[in-house]
Amino acid sequence: MRKKGKIVANVISGLIGRSWSMLFAAAGYQVRIYDTDPSRMSQALEEIKLQLQDLDKRGLLRGELTADEQFSRITIATTLEECVKDSFFIQENVPEDAELKKKVHAELDKYIRSDAILASSTSAILPSIISEGLAHRNRFIVVHPTNPPFYAPMVELCSAPWTDPEVMETTRALMKEIGQQPVTINKEIDGFVLNRLQYAILGEGWRLIRDNVISVEDFDTVMKHGLGRRYAFMGPFETAYLNSEGWKVYSERYADMIYRIQKSFGEPEKMVGPTLDKVQEECNKMVPMEKLQERRQWRDRRLTALAKLIKDMEEEDKQAEGQ
Ligand SMILES: NC(=O)c1ccc[n+]([C@@H]2O[C@H](COP(=O)([O-])OP(=O)(O)OC[C@H]3O[C@@H](n4cnc5c(N)ncnc54)[C@H](O)[C@@H]3O)[C@@H](O)[C@H]2O)c1
Repeated sequence: MRKKGKIVANVISGLIGRSWSMLFAAAGYQVRIYDTDPSRMSQALEEIKLQLQDLDKRGLLRGELTADEQFSRITIATTLEECVKDSFFIQENVPEDAELKKKVHAELDKYIRSDAILASSTSAILPSIISEGLAHRNRFIVVHPTNPPFYAPMVELCSAPWTDPEVMETTRALMKEIGQQPVTINKEIDGFVLNRLQYAILGEGWRLIRDNVISVEDFDTVMKHGLGRRYAFMGPFETAYLNSEGWKVYSERYADMIYRIQKSFGEPEKMVGPTLDKVQEECNKMVPMEKLQERRQWRDRRLTALAKLIKDMEEEDKQAEGQ
């Protein structure tokens, strides 16, 4: 658990950077954080400390180390060079702006070990765009987490065309080791998979709400009390597979109907104009804007409870397999 000499650098300690720090520290790694704004780093440490204490209280700490031991593994670096120079894995978390990411990676490129892995949390910028001009471009990979990474462990891994295959393998193994669920995106694609899927759902919802087929509240109910109930522990392909006698039967029964409905989906529409006003107004009725922070805390309590339930059920599965 000591992982002596293994240092992970977490560049920029914003929302996602903080979560990465906690995940690596819980697995026993030394974590160095850096941000151009020093106040963000001290703020990050304060918040991490509180979160670790809270997780400890609720019996949800990850790994075998105590909250204090995990906290002591995270330290502040005063320069970018100091943060990354000895690190074997560097996770960059600057805001989602391609020019900014390119600039920060060009700087990182000067300081990193030639065998280090340079990862970016980018939600949708292609790995080849960020890494094209780098001397160490063969060491670059996108590691896109789901927010909040502590409770939604899926991470998308996507290489650039010139990334060493070993980088993908090592990153996959590292993600599993720290308790995340990596998926490999085999080729670069805008939005990777999570966001393509999310936007497909939002896009169809937008058209249905625009055309007065359903209200915002009822659309969300379809998701949370319908599809979402299953999707919390089973994907859509397995769901369909179980819903009939396998995929061949599912196709015989439903392929024509699904094709007909898919063809009726409308053109993509920018999320602006009168539908935007309607969506904003209805959401404000469900959760008034001044209560957003309260509702985020409610969401995190729900996610924590769900994570605990899923963890308990996975334990049950393991025990059943062992019998
Ligand atoms: N928040 C999410 O839901 C989420 C989920 C998955 C991936 N991501 C990705 O993670 C990355 C970081 O997102 P976040 O939500 O943590 O952002 P954030 O705004 O919370 O943190 C960004 C950090 O970057 C620093 N920063 C701002 N401007 C800078 C500059 N010019 N130079 C250097 N540092 C600067 C800030 O001080 C801040 O600490 C983005 O690429 C985002 O797309 C975010």
